[in-house]
Amino acid sequence: MQHEAIDFEHYDLLQDEACAQRIIEAKKMLGKRAVILAHHYQRADVYRHADLTGDSLKLSFLAAQTDADYLVFCGVHFMAEVADILSSPQQVAILPDMSAGCSMADMASLSNVERAWRDLADVLDPDEKITPVTYINSAADLKAFCGEHGGIVCTSSNAGKVLQWSFKQREKVLFFPDQHLGRWSGHQLGIPLDEMVVWNFDEPLGGLTPEQIKKAKILLWKGHCSVHQMFQPHHIIRFRNQHPDGIVISHPECSFEVCKASDFVGSTEYIIRTIAEAPNDTRWLVGTELNLVSRITEEFKSQGKIIQFMSPMVCMCSTMARIDPQHLAWTLENLVNGNVVNQIKVPESEAKLAKLSLDRMLKIS
Ligand code: 13P
Ligand code: SF4
Repeated sequence: MQHEAIDFEHYDLLQDEACAQRIIEAKKMLGKRAVILAHHYQRADVYRHADLTGDSLKLSFLAAQTDADYLVFCGVHFMAEVADILSSPQQVAILPDMSAGCSMADMASLSNVERAWRDLADVLDPDEKITPVTYINSAADLKAFCGEHGGIVCTSSNAGKVLQWSFKQREKVLFFPDQHLGRWSGHQLGIPLDEMVVWNFDEPLGGLTPEQIKKAKILLWKGHCSVHQMFQPHHIIRFRNQHPDGIVISHPECSFEVCKASDFVGSTEYIIRTIAEAPNDTRWLVGTELNLVSRITEEFKSQGKIIQFMSPMVCMCSTMARIDPQHLAWTLENLVNGNVVNQIKVPESEAKLAKLSLDRMLKIS
């Protein structure tokens, strides 16, 4: 039976523990009709309620496979959009707090990418020479742009494979919005640094000369993740001086210098798996978001693994953290009452094109 939607203001002042009980109750009542997907960066008090967890790639596969009516996505906006695009039309994707965005995704807009494409047409034929590659951390309209222009989506766990696929299609790549993931992945394929140039979307022709564009293999969008820019090579040097046997692992959104100084580089899922599979009594320095690092620090303590956060500063993804127990309880209790709040619905024509570029990625992953 449907009741009137409950306003969030009734939840704002609820204590976390009270919310936890109500979330557990609501989940019981919803049963298999609702599934909670959570990214590894979610806060512990939200993550504990998740049915499915993963990095962006794994969550995309899981969203495409679940047959629940409601996909409650504890992550950021672009992730819920992907869940909507990859699920069936009857399924409903929900983001418990609409303000949970990704500041890196916001660094590339459709108008700026279209302008880049037009500017590039002054130098070469972009549709013939360039494969557009968007990091999954981007809005659905950019995924649609890639779908329309023979391009593809990548995540931090398949960027290398995606680049290889892209170079089979055309000789160059326009990679947005994360220059760091693009540069590191290109470097891993043996592309010289001077053939990967930064496209500054604030300047005509990206601030480049026609010669630089003609020479480049990858045009790297001038975007970054502010959380991962907090990690610095000197953090690694200090750790290695103190613990010569220590192992360093980083996310590819870190700067090139940090990735280069690390022993391992990979997605959040890769980071967790690598440490899980390592011998007991090892010591780790981890360059990725704090919630994930705090969780695995506790999880692997019993194996004698000592895990240290790379930065002396607290760096969390503040937008991920907007999904709190209050918003989750509000979302679920509304579902119990037959009301959908905070649905993420990508317009059909955009979703169709975005799915093209996502499917190309899923096929080669
Ligand atoms: P992963 O795909 O590695 O989980 O990364 C997502 C993300 O936003 C990292 O900042
Ligand atoms: Fe976006 Fe960075 Fe947060 Fe990942 S950590 S969701 S890239 S702002």
